[in-house]
Amino acid sequence: MTLFAEPYARVYDCFQARKDYAREADLIEGVFRRCGGGSIERVLDVGCGTGGHALILARRGYRVTGLDQSVDMLRRAEAKAAAAGLAATWVNGDLRSFAVDGGFDAALVMYSTLGYMLENDDVLSALRNVRRHLRAGGLLLFDVWYGPAVLTIKPSDRTTVVEVSDGTVTRTVKVELDARHHRCAVQYHFRHQSGSLAAQESEELHLVRYFFPLELELMLGQTGFALAALTAFPEVDRPPDLDSWNVLGVARAA
Ligand SMILES: C[S@@+](CC[C@H](N)C(=O)[O-])C[C@H]1O[C@@H](n2cnc3c(N)ncnc32)[C@H](O)[C@@H]1O
Repeated sequence: MTLFAEPYARVYDCFQARKDYAREADLIEGVFRRCGGGSIERVLDVGCGTGGHALILARRGYRVTGLDQSVDMLRRAEAKAAAAGLAATWVNGDLRSFAVDGGFDAALVMYSTLGYMLENDDVLSALRNVRRHLRAGGLLLFDVWYGPAVLTIKPSDRTTVVEVSDGTVTRTVKVELDARHHRCAVQYHFRHQSGSLAAQESEELHLVRYFFPLELELMLGQTGFALAALTAFPEVDRPPDLDSWNVLGVARAA
């Protein structure tokens, strides 16, 4: 089953309204400046979704390629780029197996996209494939759920309602932790209420893996990267602690 398909893709941006992509792009650029030697031009955004980071970086002058397995998410990224007159390349493919012209200066795998790689072999294939697309010395930036914090805080069920152009969408999330496999089952249920019409309902089950520092170091080492930093996200200067649900990893291609 394809995740982030319609109708989730249609309302994805509405549920991300409070996510500060511009601030995250500032943070990403800060890492580019600090660790990229001022030479980052070509950026590959893997799992780019509807283009939250890719479009901002394109507007700031980077040559961006966005890749995603969901055609529905990509279509939205493409439409937003066209509406804003931004040049970017959009590719439909799987993180583990896509192939585009390589030699990128940096790759982004943001917002837990790496967490969709559930088995160790999936993570290794994905990292190897991203590495193949980077030049030597290129940077990999990713944010993932941080295992020590996930097991401390523990995920909880929640309900969010957002306004859409023709009504409201209620998203109910039920979660179940699977500590043996470092993952969380996230069951999304959407209820779209539009005027007096009958509500439309849909569901998606997402399995999302969380990561521990030593396994990240090992996996990156095995796939041609060296882990340069692991910090509380969305900060870049603070080491993660038991309250840091998300961490930002920065790795350099050997
Ligand atoms: C949580 S969303 C993040 C999207 C975007 N990076 C953002 O920050 O809004 C995760 C994205 O990863 C994509 N994804 C999940 N598994 C993938 C895979 N195997 N290959 C490529 N993309 C994948 C999904 O389609 C989705 O767009």
